[in-house]
Amino acid sequence: MSSDHDLRDGAAAIAAASRRSFMRGAGGLAAAGMVCPFSGARAASETVAKGITPGTQGQTRAAMEGFDGPHQSGILTPLQNHSCFVVFDLVSEDGPSLVRLMRLWTEASRRMMRGQTAAPMEGDPDKPGADSGEAIGLGPSRLSITFGFGAGVFEKDGKDRYGLRSRRPAALIDLPRFNGDQLAPALTGGDLSVQACADDPQVAFHAVRQLARIADGVAQLRWIQNGYNAQFAAEDTPRNLMGFKDGTQNPIAGKPGQPQAIAGGKHYLPGSADEIVWADGSDQGWMKGGSYLVARRIRVALEHWDRTAVSFQEEVFGRRKASGAPLTGKDEFDPLDLDALDRDGNPVIGENSHVRLGSAASNGGAQILRRGYSYNDGLNFIAERWPPWRQGLEYDAGLFFVCYQRDPRTGFVAIYDRMSKLDLLNQYATHVGSGLFACPPGTGGRTGFIGQALFEGVTLRTAAAPASGKNASY
Ligand code: HEM
Repeated sequence: MSSDHDLRDGAAAIAAASRRSFMRGAGGLAAAGMVCPFSGARAASETVAKGITPGTQGQTRAAMEGFDGPHQSGILTPLQNHSCFVVFDLVSEDGPSLVRLMRLWTEASRRMMRGQTAAPMEGDPDKPGADSGEAIGLGPSRLSITFGFGAGVFEKDGKDRYGLRSRRPAALIDLPRFNGDQLAPALTGGDLSVQACADDPQVAFHAVRQLARIADGVAQLRWIQNGYNAQFAAEDTPRNLMGFKDGTQNPIAGKPGQPQAIAGGKHYLPGSADEIVWADGSDQGWMKGGSYLVARRIRVALEHWDRTAVSFQEEVFGRRKASGAPLTGKDEFDPLDLDALDRDGNPVIGENSHVRLGSAASNGGAQILRRGYSYNDGLNFIAERWPPWRQGLEYDAGLFFVCYQRDPRTGFVAIYDRMSKLDLLNQYATHVGSGLFACPPGTGGRTGFIGQALFEGVTLRTAAAPASGKNASY
C-alpha cells in the first residue's frame, strides 16, 4: 500500500485551528484593551493585521512558494526565517548520473515545497522510509530550494570530467583572493550548492537531508551552513547580529523612482531584477534566466563590537543603529547623501563607511541582491587579526552573506574588491568561507528539471569510458 503523505492537508488543518485560536486571542486582547508587549504603543488590532502573533503559526506553515517557473525559487522569494545552505562534492565521474541526480532532486523538491514527503511513502517497515519523516505535519512553511553549479561540474584538476567544459560560463570565475581573506578549505568551494530556506528550521534541514540521501554515490556533503533571520513583521528589515538593520538598500526592494544615493549631484536608482539579478544568456545560453550566487561565511568579532561605542558603530556603517536611517537622513529609506559635509568639511557618511563603499554610486553603478542570514555556531578558539588581537574562546558567529547577480565580475567582485581594502567594518569581520555557483534558470514548467538546458545537446562522458567522450545518455 502506498501512503503518499500530503502535508498540505495537515497544514490546512493546523491553519484552521490556529485561525480559530488566533481569533479568540485577538478578540480577548482587543476586549481587554491590551497592546502587544513587543510592539510598544502598537494597538492589538494593528498587530492582528500584520499577523505576527504566535497564533498565526499555522497560517505560516501552510504558506507555499512555487517551485516551477522561469527562475528558481529562493532568489527573489521574500526572506524566510531560516536557511540551510549545503555544498556537495561530486564523487562520480559519470555524466548521466549527474543528469539523473538533477532529475531526482527536481522531483523531490517539487514535492517538498508542496509540503509532501520527498517521495511517496511505501509503508513497508522492512525498508528504510522514502523520507526521514521529521517534516510530516510541519507544512511547506514557505520552503524554497535553490540549486547551483560550481566550477567542478565543468572541469576539475584541468580535466573535462563530464564533457561539459565548453559550457562553463565565463562569469563562473575562480574568485580572486581578497584582502584579509582567511578562507578555510573545509568551508570553501564545492561542486553543487543547495540552499533550502523556510520559516521553520526543521523544514529547511529536512529538505537538504532528503536531497543528500538521494545523492548517495554521486555527490557527498562538503560543508553546511545554517542561518537565521529574526523578523518581527514581514515588512520590517531584519537586524543582523551587529544590531543594525540589514537589507535596507537592496535593489528591487526599493521604492520605484526613489533614489538610493545622491553623489556628485546625481541620483542613483535601484535596479530591476532583469538589470541586476538575471543572467541574459549572452555568455552561455543555458544560463538565461539564471543567476550567480556568491556565498561568504563572515565571522564577526562580536566581543570586540560589543565594546565599541555606538557612535563609532554608526560611523562604521554610515547609518543610525536604532532607526537604520543614513547619517544624512531621518528615515530608514532616505537616500544616502554622499555629498553632504559636516562643519569641518568632512563627509557625513565617511569615506571608509560600509554603505558608501557598497553604494552603486561608488562602484560605477554595480549592484547586487543580498540575501544573507545570521549564523551562530557556538564558541571556537579564535585569534583576532585586529587590535586588541584577542586570542581565546570567542563566538563563532556572524553573517552568512549570500548575494545574487547577473555576473559576479561586475557585481560582488567589483564592489568587494575595494571594500576588502578600505571598509571600517573589516576590523570586526573576517571572511572564513566562500563559494561561487551558477544557479541555472527555473524549470519553466512542470515537466522540466533544474539544469536541463545545460545538458541538452552535450555528449556526456560516462564512468565506463571517461576518456573516449562516448555514450551520450541524455
Ligand atoms: C559581516 C559582514 C557584513 C555586515 C554585518 C553587513 C551589514 C550591512 C548593513 C547593516 C548595511 C546597511 C543597510 C542596508 O542597506 O542593508 C549594508 C549595506 C550593504 N552591504 Fe553589507 N554587510 C556585510 C558584508 C558585506 C559584503 C561582504 C558586501 C559585499 C559586496 C556587502 C555589500 C553591501 C551593499 C552593496 C550594501 C548596500 C549599500 C548601499 O547601496 O547603500 N556587505 N551591509
